[in-house]
Amino acid sequence: MIRLEGIEKTYRSGDLETPVLKNINLHISRGEYVALMGSSGTGKSTLMNILGCLDVPTKGRYELDGVDVVKLTDSELSLVRNEKIGFVFQQFHLLPKSDALTNVLLPLVYADSYPPNAKKRAESLLTLVGLRERMHYRPGQLSGGQRQRVAIARALINDPRIILADEPTGNLDKTSTVEIMELFDKLHGQGHTVIMVTHDEETAKRAHRVVEMSDGQLVSDRSREELDTEGK
Ligand SMILES: Nc1ncnc2c1ncn2[C@@H]1O[C@H](COP(=O)(O)OP(=O)(O)OP(=O)(O)O)[C@@H](O)[C@H]1O
Ligand SMILES: [Mg+2]
Repeated sequence: MIRLEGIEKTYRSGDLETPVLKNINLHISRGEYVALMGSSGTGKSTLMNILGCLDVPTKGRYELDGVDVVKLTDSELSLVRNEKIGFVFQQFHLLPKSDALTNVLLPLVYADSYPPNAKKRAESLLTLVGLRERMHYRPGQLSGGQRQRVAIARALINDPRIILADEPTGNLDKTSTVEIMELFDKLHGQGHTVIMVTHDEETAKRAHRVVEMSDGQLVSDRSREELDTEGK
């Protein structure tokens, strides 16, 4: 489903070149639950942005469901993004003046496709994330964990198969972290492919595969079985 081959990303400013991703090769099948780990500045967010079609690599091939997305135009890319990918960020990126319901509906507004049942769908997603009673609260009236749950409902509005989450619990306390992680477990259980950046070993334990980055490269890729055997 996801196939990265020889992905490189280099930032240029003037004469200065910063190589950030170096020859990344990664295959992820449908329904996997992957944790992406590694110290700060190693390129995790850069890689997630490429996976999420928010950014393009300098070099290499990114095949998503058989399509080389590197070759797509910006508008084709945003179609792919809308159809297949839900993105959850560390900073929730909600519109402060809009209520939870409107925030969840936002991707549809951008996509220019507003199906007649959209509002019902947004309401049922907010119910799924446990915010049925808070639909008309604005972000400022919600806790951090609740805001992130709104952001997760928003990521699900187009029913994407892939959920990408870049440190979704980085700004949350322990209790909210557990709630959010249980929500991701549930989504994975429903058949979504989940790829999540985390610094937290406990959080990574929920994933079925842990991929580690160091200095722009993938340095380890282990399944849950391998990790459990090593831990014994
Ligand atoms: N626009 C840019 N121009 C130049 N360098 C950049 C740019 N964006 C990111 N970088 C560099 O790319 C490297 C990787 O950044 P990235 O955000 O992917 O790291 P990360 O692994 O997500 O780190 P963290 O755990 O702190 O979030 C960093 O060294 C950063 O300075
Ligand atoms: Mg990051």
